[in-house]
Amino acid sequence: MLLGACVGALAGLGCDGATPAPADATVDVVRDATTALDEAFDATPDAVRVWVPDPFTPTPATRSYCGSTNDDAVEARITAALAALTLEEKLAMMAGAAVVPLDRRWRVPGNDRLGLPGLGMLDGPRGVSAFLHVPSTVFPVAMMRGATWDPALETRVGAALAQEIRSVGADTVLAPTMNILRHPRWGRAQETYSEDTEHLGTMAAAFIRGVQSQGVLASAKHLAAYSIENTRHRVDVAVDERTLREVYLPQFRRAVQEANVASVMSAYNRVNGAWCDESAFLLNQVLRGEWGFAGFVESDWVLGTHGDVTSLRAGLDIEMPVPLHFRALGPAVRNGSLSEHEVDAALRHILRAQLCYGLDARPHVSDDPSLRNTPEHVALAREVAQRGMVLLKNDAVRGAPALPLGPSVHDVVVLGRNATRANLGDLGSSNVTPSTVVTAVDGLSMRAGVTVHAFDGTALDAAATTAVRAADAVVIVTGMDADDEGEAEVGAGDRASLALPAGELALIQAATALNPRVVVVLEGGAAILTHGWRDAVPAVVFAFYPGAQGGLALADVLFGDAAPSGRLPFSIPEQESDLPPFDDTSDHVTYGFLHGYRHLGSNGVAPAHAFGAGLSYTSFAYANPGVSQSAIHVGDLVDVRVDVTNTGTRRALETVQVYVHARASSVPRAPRDLRGFTQVDVAAGATVTAHVSLRVDDLRYWDASAHAWVLEPGTYDVIAAHDSVADGVRTTLQAQ
Ligand code: BGC
Repeated sequence: MLLGACVGALAGLGCDGATPAPADATVDVVRDATTALDEAFDATPDAVRVWVPDPFTPTPATRSYCGSTNDDAVEARITAALAALTLEEKLAMMAGAAVVPLDRRWRVPGNDRLGLPGLGMLDGPRGVSAFLHVPSTVFPVAMMRGATWDPALETRVGAALAQEIRSVGADTVLAPTMNILRHPRWGRAQETYSEDTEHLGTMAAAFIRGVQSQGVLASAKHLAAYSIENTRHRVDVAVDERTLREVYLPQFRRAVQEANVASVMSAYNRVNGAWCDESAFLLNQVLRGEWGFAGFVESDWVLGTHGDVTSLRAGLDIEMPVPLHFRALGPAVRNGSLSEHEVDAALRHILRAQLCYGLDARPHVSDDPSLRNTPEHVALAREVAQRGMVLLKNDAVRGAPALPLGPSVHDVVVLGRNATRANLGDLGSSNVTPSTVVTAVDGLSMRAGVTVHAFDGTALDAAATTAVRAADAVVIVTGMDADDEGEAEVGAGDRASLALPAGELALIQAATALNPRVVVVLEGGAAILTHGWRDAVPAVVFAFYPGAQGGLALADVLFGDAAPSGRLPFSIPEQESDLPPFDDTSDHVTYGFLHGYRHLGSNGVAPAHAFGAGLSYTSFAYANPGVSQSAIHVGDLVDVRVDVTNTGTRRALETVQVYVHARASSVPRAPRDLRGFTQVDVAAGATVTAHVSLRVDDLRYWDASAHAWVLEPGTYDVIAAHDSVADGVRTTLQAQ
C-alpha cells in the first residue's frame, strides 16, 4: 500500500503522484519509504524493492522532443515509472514481443499496471505493410517522390500514409528509408529518395513532418552507410570520417534537428569495424551527443542486434523483433556487470517517445478500413505519380515534339514487359497490398477517343508488326521489376545490371524500325542505361514504380493533361563503369568521398542523363542571380534568388537547383554540391523570382584532424541551374 501510494515521491513528485515535491525532500522520502516498506512487507521481502532512479535533468533537446506535450510532466512520470517497475518489467519493454506482427503490428510491450502503452510498429516507406494483407493506398515509391523535388507534397504523403498506418492500430511507421543511393544497383534504391545528401535530407524531413503531424512516430532508417543489399548482414563499410560526416550522415542529422524524428533504426552492416547497433560512435557520440537525439533507437529486424551490454551501452534501446541478445541484460544487472541505471536511461528514451506522443491517452484502434484507400489518398497517389514522371528525352517526330500525344493520336500500341502488370516495386518489407491497380495499359485505355492494342512478349508477331506500323504512337513500358531488385532475403536483392533485359532491347529496336513515334517508359528504382538505344527513340520517360494509380498518371503526362515536372534524383551514366565500383560480394568495402553526379563531375565524365535533369512541355530561362549578402559567416542563412522566365507556351513547374563550389580549397571538393532547391509555378511568358535558402554551415568541410567543421576563407561559386550539369547562372559568396 505504502509503496504504491507513494512511489511517485521517488520521482520528485508528491504522494498524489502529480504535485512536485521539493528536490531536497527526495532523500527523506526515500528513507521513510524504505523504512515503511521494511516494516510493512517484512513477511514477503522478495515481493517489493525500492529502486531510486537517477535524477533527471532536462536538456533543450529533451524539451523540444516533446513538442506541445508538457515534457516536465512526461519526465516526472517516467521517473516514477522507473522507480515502480521491476527489472523484468523494464526489460520486457525494451524488445519486441514476437517475430511476426501479432495483432497487426510488431508489439513492443508496455506495462498495464502503470498504464504505459508500449509501441506498435509497422512498415513502411510506401504504405501499410503487405504483411497484413489489408488493401490500402500504394503510393509511388520514395525514389519517385524524390523525383517530385517537392517537400510540401511529400509532407502530404507522410500524413496520408500515417493515417493509413494508424487505421490498423500501429503507432510507429518504419520509414523513411533515408540511406544514400551510392550506386543504382542497390536493391533497395527505390525506398530512398536520392543519391544526394541535401535532396535526401529535405525530402525525408518533409515525410517525417507529415507522419508525425498525425501523431504517428516516424523511424529514420537505417543508421548508417547501408547501401548494399546482398551482403548487408556481414559487410564492413570502411569510410573516412570526413566522408561519413559530409555524405552519409547529414540527412539523419536533419531528420533529428529539423524534423524532430521520434525514432531511429540502426543498420545491419558494420561501419569502420563496428556493427551499427554496437557503434557508440554513431549512436551515443554523434546521434545523441552531437545532434541531441532524445528518442529511442531500435535495431533492424533480422539478426540486426549483435551485442547485449555492448549494444545497450552503445545507444541501442530496443532489440527487434525479439530479445535474442537483450535477454542477457537481466543476468548482467544481477551479476553486476550492468547497472540498472543504464537500463533506465535506455527505457527513458522509449517511454519519452510513448508519452510525448500521447500513446497512453489514445483510444485503441483495431481496424478502421474507412481511413485506407480514401478518395483523397488515391487522388494524392495519382498526383504524386504525375509529378514524379521524368521526361528524359522529347525529340521531334515529323516536325513536332513526340510528346505530348496530341488529339490526332487515336491508335496506340502498347508493348513491353511492364505494360499490363501491376509493377508496384519490391516485395520485401516495403511491399503494400493494393485494392485495385491501374496498369499502364489500363490508364491509356481509359482515354476517350484512344484505342489501345497491347501485345505481350519481346518478339513482334505478324499481327503486332502490322499494328505497330499502323499506330499513331507506340508506347513501350519496360524497365525493372521485383525480380530484378529489392530487399535481400525477402526480395530480389541487388540488381545484376543497369541495362535493360536483352529481349526488351530487341523489342525497342524492332518497334523503332516500324514506327517513328516510339515512347519508351522506364520503370525501376534507379538508373537504367539508355546508352545504345536512346538515339533510336524520340521520347523517353522515367516512371519509377508509380504506385496503384500509375497508369492514370502516365496517361496524364503522355497526353499532356499534366506537364511533366519530375527531375532525376540520381544520375544515369552512359555505362556502369562511369560510376564507382559496386561490390555486393565482399565482406569489406570502402566508400570514397565521391559517387553519383559528384563523381562524374570530378572525373569530367558526362552523364547520359544528369542528376536533377528532366524536360517539360515548355522551356525556362534563368537571369539576374543574386544573394542577400555576399560576405558569409558560420550560422548565416543566405537567400539566393534568380529570375525564372517561362519562355514556352504552357504553364509549368520549374525546379531551381542551387549548387556550390569552393574555388580554392585545401581539401578535395566536388565541382558542384547541391545545397538547396525550390520550385516555382510559372505561367507562359511570365517571370517569377525563385528564392532558395542556403545554409552557410553546409559549405563547411569536416576537418578530421581538428575534429571540427571548418568554413574555409575564400570564394564560393553559387550556381542556380536547371540540373547538375547545366551552365545556369552564377554569383559568388565570400568567406573571410
Ligand atoms: C528491414 C527494415 C524493416 C524491417 C521490418 C528489415 O529487414 O531492413 O527496413 O523495417 O525489416 O520489416
